[in-house]
Amino acid sequence: MSLLEKFSTAQQLKEGLSNDGLDPTGVVFEDMLSATEGVFHGRKTIMAGTNNYLGLSFDPACIAAGVAALESQGTGTTGSRMANGSYASHLALEQELADFFQCPNAMVFSTGYAANLGVLSAVLGPEDAVLMDSDAHASLYDGCRMSGAEVFRFKHNDLNSLERRLKRLEARASRCLIVIEGMYSVLGDSAPVAEIVALKEQFGASLLVDEAHSLGVFGERGCGVAEAQGVMGQVDFIVGTFSKSLGAMGGFCVSPHEVLDLFRYVSRPFIFTASPSPSVVATTREALRQLRSRPELRVALWSNAERLYTSLQDLGFELGPEISPVVAVRFEQKEKALAGWKVLLEASVYVNLMVPPATPGSASFLRCSVSAAHTTEQIDMIIEQFAKIKDH
Ligand SMILES: Cc1ncc(COP(=O)(O)O)c(C=O)c1O
Repeated sequence: MSLLEKFSTAQQLKEGLSNDGLDPTGVVFEDMLSATEGVFHGRKTIMAGTNNYLGLSFDPACIAAGVAALESQGTGTTGSRMANGSYASHLALEQELADFFQCPNAMVFSTGYAANLGVLSAVLGPEDAVLMDSDAHASLYDGCRMSGAEVFRFKHNDLNSLERRLKRLEARASRCLIVIEGMYSVLGDSAPVAEIVALKEQFGASLLVDEAHSLGVFGERGCGVAEAQGVMGQVDFIVGTFSKSLGAMGGFCVSPHEVLDLFRYVSRPFIFTASPSPSVVATTREALRQLRSRPELRVALWSNAERLYTSLQDLGFELGPEISPVVAVRFEQKEKALAGWKVLLEASVYVNLMVPPATPGSASFLRCSVSAAHTTEQIDMIIEQFAKIKDH
C-alpha cells in the first residue's frame, strides 16, 4: 500500500456524509452577522452550534480591545515566548486567570488543544498511568499519547468503574492522573467532580479537569463545574479554552502546584509554537472581564438552555441526560441525523452533525449549543424547525 492509499477511508467517510452535494464537514458561511446569525447560501441562518455560550464574539468592548491591540502592537508575535520573549499582555492574562480562579499559578497556551497536549505531556511520562473518562475529548487522548503514559479508560461518569480501576493500580495510584471534563461537549452532561476529588484523595492520585465547555457557564462566578461543586481548590490541574465562552482563541491551565511554572521549560506544545497574538490576548482579557462583571449573561444562557431542552423533550426527542447549554438530539441511525441536519440547514438553522466514531456509543446526534445572545424568537425558531423533522 502506498503512503497515500490510506486516505481512501477518509474519502469514503466524506462521500458517505455528502448529502445531495451538501457536506456537513465542509459548510462555508459567506458572512457572519452577529454572535447568533451567519449567512449560508445567501440566507440569514441561525447559528445554533457554535459554543458561543456567552455570545461575546461580537461584544463591542471585546472588539474594541482587539482593534486597539492590533493598532498598537501589531498583527502577530511571530514566535514562541521561549525564543522571542513574552509580551506584557501574556503575563497580565496569566495574572488575571490566577486571580479569577483564586489559584496561584496560571499558564497560557496558543489553543485549548495545545493546552491539553502541553499539560499532559509535561505532567506524565511513560512510567505513569492515566484513568480517562471514556467520553473525554480527543485532545486529552492526544496529550496522553504524546506523554507515553499508560492509559486506562473508565466508563463515562461512572464512579464504580473509576474506583475499580484505582484499586487495580494499587501502589501505582500515586502516579496516576485522572482525566475528566467538567461539562462534556457532546451530550452536555457534567462530571461528578466532587466525588471524583474524594476518590483521588482516597487513593493519592491526581486530577485534571478540562473546563473547555464549562468556563463562563457553571459556578457562581463562572469558573466551571469544579467551582459549582465546591471543589475548585482541590483539583490539581484545571485546563480550558478561550475559544468558546470567551469568543477568542487560546488555552490555559491553572494549578495550585508551583511546578506549573516549570512546564514552560519542558512543554513542547508551549515552547515550539508561536504565542497568541496581541489582539487575541486583548480580546480574551476583555471577554474575561465581561464574564466576571456580567453574571446576567449566565442567567440568559441558562434560561435559553432550559427553553430549548424542555421544548425538544416535549416534542419527544431523546436528549442528553440533563438540561445544559449543549442540547444533543439523539438519532439511532446516522442517515436520519444527516437528513434532519440538512432539513434544518435549509430552514436556516445550523446545528452540529455528530456521527460515530466521534460520538458516545454508536449513536448520531444533532447537537445544538445555546448562547446567551440567542433571542427567545430564535430559540423558538430552532424548536419549530426541529418539530418538522420529528417524524421524518
Ligand atoms: C473538551 C475540549 N477540550 C479542548 C478543546 C480544544 O480547544 P481549542 O478549540 O481551543 O483548541 C475542545 C475543543 O473543541 C474541547 O471540546
